[in-house]
This record gives sequence, structure tokens and C-alpha cells, in this order.
Amino acid sequence: MAESLGIALIGCGTVGTGVAKILTHHANRVTTRTGGKTVAVKRVVARDAGKGRDPAIPSASVGTDWTTAVADPAVQIVVELIGGTTTAKQIVLAALAAGKHVVTANKALLAEHGQELFAAARKAERVICFEAAVAGGIPIIRAMGESLAANQITGIQGILNGTSNFILSSMADNGASYANALTEAQRLGYAEADPTLDVDGSDAAHKLAVLAQIAFGVTAKPSDIEKQGIADIQAMDTRYAAELGYTIKLLAEAWAADKTVALHVAPVLLRKTDPLAQVRGAFNAILVTGDVVGETLYQGPGAGMMPTASSVVADIIDIAVGRAQKTFTAAKLWSGSREFTIVPSEKVRSKFYLRLLVKDEPGTLSEVCRCLANEQISIASVIQHEPLRETEKVVPLVIMTHLAETGRFRTAAAVIDKLTSVAGPAVYFSVDD
Ligand SMILES: NC(=O)c1ccc[n+]([C@@H]2O[C@H](COP(=O)([O-])OP(=O)(O)OC[C@H]3O[C@@H](n4cnc5c(N)ncnc54)[C@H](OP(=O)(O)O)[C@@H]3O)[C@@H](O)[C@H]2O)c1
Repeated sequence: MAESLGIALIGCGTVGTGVAKILTHHANRVTTRTGGKTVAVKRVVARDAGKGRDPAIPSASVGTDWTTAVADPAVQIVVELIGGTTTAKQIVLAALAAGKHVVTANKALLAEHGQELFAAARKAERVICFEAAVAGGIPIIRAMGESLAANQITGIQGILNGTSNFILSSMADNGASYANALTEAQRLGYAEADPTLDVDGSDAAHKLAVLAQIAFGVTAKPSDIEKQGIADIQAMDTRYAAELGYTIKLLAEAWAADKTVALHVAPVLLRKTDPLAQVRGAFNAILVTGDVVGETLYQGPGAGMMPTASSVVADIIDIAVGRAQKTFTAAKLWSGSREFTIVPSEKVRSKFYLRLLVKDEPGTLSEVCRCLANEQISIASVIQHEPLRETEKVVPLVIMTHLAETGRFRTAAAVIDKLTSVAGPAVYFSVDD
């Protein structure tokens, strides 16, 4: 009789349902890929055990008590798909203590508790697999952790949040305001009713923390990752950027040099011809630079039922054939490596887009230029735009700089904010040429 592998599906919402569908509708394919082991869902845990599920799950195996499911001797792999960090952490620790392998799609859990969970996994001689935790259906964890193993990764630039990318694409393509683009994203199901974690950069920062662990062995706390969201981007900035040949994208970036790495999430102006600039809608993409391979680009669906389930099932198959057990031991993730140090982004050099609303009177431009010059920042171009409304007393001024240290640019912007000829805070984004 074929060997069977028992799964406990803790959480059967969007992703859990996708996993159940693959295991049901493609059972033969999965058995072939595991080398003959059948993968059977023995337990399903949800908040509401009575909810109708598609595919239908035999009622005997559906419950609300995860402790029973985790302890079931027929279960060898616990698949955590409830989200959040409190109960999810308890489930993962209990599963490992009970000798079960774990598969999760939960980036927040890994970003916040990775060290404790991976220590528990090593102690229990079990694995935690998490391909679905970053960029949903894109196999970026394996690509970086295994396929690029001959490289030291030196840079990561990722569009890691589909909601933000959808909103920014709508603003760029249709001239929509941020508010209207967000409403449209909510109407189409790309944004939650409360979109805060998506649009303020938190979700992308969690994913960057996971990628930085794989690429540099660093355990980044939330405070180690500077983040700026997209809610303050105005339609005029999208328009002025486009006139200059750029598109604004929310990028999660890691830049390494001399065993240090700077991590941040922020809107960035990319040339319209840049491959990342062409990633539209809710898609994700990651540009990874390795010292041997050079630049590599990964693109695909970053979320959704079936793409995310595709990655979860790949992890289950990896455990079934024993691959995950080998790579888990070799990778030593969240083991407190001291090879790289996280540094603030202050020293990262970039060009900048600076947009001000200034009084249209003599001397204003020279005052602004002096503030930049005091920080050794030289100007590449200046464009004064028409007032937004005829009655407006202030005009938009767009300055593009040459390369400057981020910290010095921020200092200059803070001084500019205090000029009496400048109305409202300076709006600025780094520019990646
Ligand atoms: N959705 C995506 O596209 C996507 C992409 C990548 C990663 N992820 C990650 O995948 C995980 C799951 O996301 P999802 O979108 O599938 O979530 P979801 O649709 O909200 O489903 C959550 C499931 O967990 C169950 N649940 C929640 N709290 C529970 C508890 N305390 N005890 C037992 N069951 C509980 C819910 O039960 P009921 O069914 O009874 O409500 C539901 O079945 C999250 O970590 C998320 O970040 C999601």
C-alpha cells in the first residue's frame, strides 16, 4: 500500500481552500511528485466548523480546536493558515513540540518570531517551510535560498505588496487620486476594508525582513526597516514623475556593502523602461542582484487563493520527499548570524525628486537651492509648474537632484520646510535611474 502523509490544515479561508483544492483535484500529480506518497488532509480547523467548504471536507475531520488536530498521530505536517501572530505562534510551537513539520504562509509571524520558532524547529529536528510567505505564487524563497546559493546577494528591490501596486498603477494609468484608486481597489477586492498594513509599508517590511534573513542572515526588527507608505502620494506627483519619464512604485529594498545592509520600504521613482516599472496591477516582482549571477528578475501573482496555495503545496511536497529537511539544516535561518550588520539608510546615496509648493516671488528658488547646496546636494533640473488652480497663490516646484546621501537630503528637506516662502511640507522620493 502507498505510504500516506497526513496534513492538518489549520485555517481554511482563502489559502487553505486553495490547498484543499489542489490536494483534491490534483491528487495524482501530487502523489507522483512525492515519489509515491499520498497526501491526505486528516484535519481541518477553522473558527466556524459548520461553514460550507469547497471542496467539501468530510465533517468528521473539521473542527475548531487546533490542539486536537496538532496532536493527532495521523498528522505529520501542520499547515498554519490562520494569519496573525498570537494563536499562530502557539500552533507552530505546539506542532513542533509534537514532532510535526510546519508549513506556513505567515510573513508577520516569521518577521516577529522567526528566531524563537526556528530555534524550536532545530530542537525538535523538524522543519518550517514558508515559500508562500513572500510574494505568494512566486518561488522567491527557493530561488534566493537554493538556486542562488553560489552568490552573495548584494541587492534586493521588490514590489511586494499587490494592493499598493494596484493603487499606484491606477494613479499612473488613469490619473486617479490616491483616495479614488483605493476605493477602486477595495471594490475589486484587492484592498481590505482597513488597508493600513498594505499602504503604510508594514506588509512589505515584513516580507523584506524574511528576504533579508535569507540573503544576509540578519534578523530585522520592525524598527530596523525604515518605511514610508503611499498614502501621501498626490496625483500631481504621479503626473510630474510621468512627465519626467518615471513611474512611482512602492519598493522594498535591501542594499549591502562591506558586510552592512540597509533595509527600507518607500515609494521610488523608476524609469518607465525599468522592468519593475512595468509591473502593473496587483502583481509582485523582485529584482535580486547576486555577485556572481548579476541581476535576476522574478515576477508573478503575489497573492490569491491558487497562486499562494501553489507555494504551500510545493512546501508539502518538499517535506514529503525529504528535500526540505536537508535544506533546512544547511540554511541555518534565524540562527543569529553576525556576518552582516543592519545600518540605517542615511548613508545610502540616491538621486531625489523634490516637490514643493512655493510662493511665486523673487528669491524663493535661490533660498531653496541654498538649503540643498549647504548639504552638498547639486541640482540636475528645476521645473516650475502652473498653479493647480488659477486662484492659487502658490506654485508647484519640482527639483531633481544628482546623487546625494539620504541623510543629508533629509536634513536639507527639513530646513526647506521651515522657509516662509514654502507652503506645506516638502514631498520627496528617491529616484532610481
Ligand atoms: N490571501 C492571500 O492571498 C495570501 C497570500 C500570501 C500569504 N497569505 C497568508 O496566508 C495566511 C492565511 O490567509 P488567508 O487569506 O487564507 O486568510 P483568511 O481567508 O482570513 O482565512 C483564515 C482562516 O483561518 C481560520 N481561523 C482564523 N482564526 C482562527 C482561530 N483562532 N482558530 C481556528 N481557525 C481560525 C478562519 O476560519 P473561518 O473559515 O471559520 O472564518 C479561516 O478559515 C495569512 O498568514 C496570510 O498573511 C495570504
